[in-house]
Amino acid sequence: MTVRIIYHGHSCFSIQTDQANLLVDPFLSGNEAADVRPDEVNPDFILVSHAHGDHLGDALPIAKRTGATVISNYEICNYLADRGAKTHGMHIGGARQFPFGTVKLTIAHHGSSFPDGSYGGNPCGFLLWLEDKVLYFAGDTALFYDMTLYGEEGIDVAMLPIGDNYTMGPKDAVKAVEFLQPKTAILMHYDTFDLIAQDARQVADAIAAKTSARPALLKPGESFVA
Ligand code: NI
Ligand code: MN
Repeated sequence: MTVRIIYHGHSCFSIQTDQANLLVDPFLSGNEAADVRPDEVNPDFILVSHAHGDHLGDALPIAKRTGATVISNYEICNYLADRGAKTHGMHIGGARQFPFGTVKLTIAHHGSSFPDGSYGGNPCGFLLWLEDKVLYFAGDTALFYDMTLYGEEGIDVAMLPIGDNYTMGPKDAVKAVEFLQPKTAILMHYDTFDLIAQDARQVADAIAAKTSARPALLKPGESFVA
């Protein structure tokens, strides 16, 4: 039983288990750092944390081409279902067992409008119970103290933004690792554009020095096996 997490740049990951191939926040076209094109991924499910273009990304064309089901908040699912995607709408605090494992939508302090300005519901993160592992994908968010509660789930891998300006920056990301107490912390949402440029190595070193977690710095195309 393995859970393979492949980084595609920004906040996009493939998460592969024996049961299913998940794709999270598929911002691929328009992202020069991405290692794959939208027509090269074949997910069974697509998880979308919020409607901003750098997260919703290519979710609609990928869902329509592959038949993958999009899991997101109710508003984003309605928007995508109206445009021909298969969806499963949820909302924050709600969990659901799928054939591949359990998904719970978590709090994220952020916005969620679509690129055209229309309302995209509340942004979220995801707690994922896959095989015998617990994963937490924070989405775009500020630091919040309730991460301590999520940490009580016994997180194996946490994926956390460090870019600052729109989300947590380096200092708060280290604090988030203290709250979540994951075995491994994967850093995301940095260096895609100048405004979120960060010295990720320095953040990883701070995590290693101040917390019990092992930081993982992935380049697009690299993977981590949980
Ligand atoms: Ni955003
Ligand atoms: Mn973002």
